[in-house]
Amino acid sequence: MAGGLRGAAGNSYRDLVLGATHGAARSSGKERWPGVFVHESAYIDAPVELGAGTKIWHFCHILPRTRIGRDCVLGQNVMVGPDVTIGDRCKIQNNVSVYAGVTLEDGVFCGPSCVFTNVSNPRAEVERKDEFRPTRVQRGATIGANATILCGTTLGAYCLIGAGAVVTGDVAAHSLMIGVPARRVGWVSHEGERLGADLVCPRSGRRYVLAAPDRLTALDR
Ligand SMILES: CC(C)(COP(=O)(O)OP(=O)(O)OC[C@H]1O[C@@H](n2cnc3c(N)ncnc32)[C@H](O)[C@@H]1OP(=O)(O)O)[C@@H](O)C(=O)NCCC(=O)NCCS
Repeated sequence: MAGGLRGAAGNSYRDLVLGATHGAARSSGKERWPGVFVHESAYIDAPVELGAGTKIWHFCHILPRTRIGRDCVLGQNVMVGPDVTIGDRCKIQNNVSVYAGVTLEDGVFCGPSCVFTNVSNPRAEVERKDEFRPTRVQRGATIGANATILCGTTLGAYCLIGAGAVVTGDVAAHSLMIGVPARRVGWVSHEGERLGADLVCPRSGRRYVLAAPDRLTALDR
């Protein structure tokens, strides 16, 4: 708990005012999740699973039945859930909402203020909670700042979505996508390096091959 005014039960003044002590994490998270850091300004509903080594920073809100793996970092003002699963080693930058229907596999990077959606044709006056369309972000994928991912899509492993892109369909693994609507303009390696005509990663030396016009695979593991 941070310092400041406290009530008789040891609650901070802010807890008492907001009535937020039930089920919400208001501390480092050590008591509920060993090895997890939860900033005191974050709200963690119950039940929620958080893996060791994960850090949850200012003003985040984690909704019920969310599972977040190990060694993840959630920046300021990130909302996750309900019923969302996030893998290990993901980095979610400031101002991202990971809504119900979205799944992030291991090692996914979500750039600042990128946007997920879960309904294609929302109306304020029509209930569509049973019509969420899933979005799957596969291992190692990167979503650039301010990009928008329309629901019902799968972002293939290690793809890289450029800043500001609008993704409207499935993305093949290792694709480099930019624009509105997003189009593939090249291929990137596991390390996020753009591949030249030789399809060799300039950073790791790993070699790739086009197994099909839409399918890049690594020759070296
Ligand atoms: C898409 C991206 C990976 C391309 O990087 P790059 O290969 O170094 O590209 P370059 O800067 O050489 O630009 C190549 C061309 O693409 C254009 N371009 C680059 N990024 C673009 C984007 N996001 N959307 C549209 N066009 C883009 C450039 O204007 C340039 O166009 P030109 O050839 O007509 O001049 C990068 O620009 C990007 O968007 N990265 C995401 C960064 C991010 O969001 N980080 C979040 C954490 S801070």
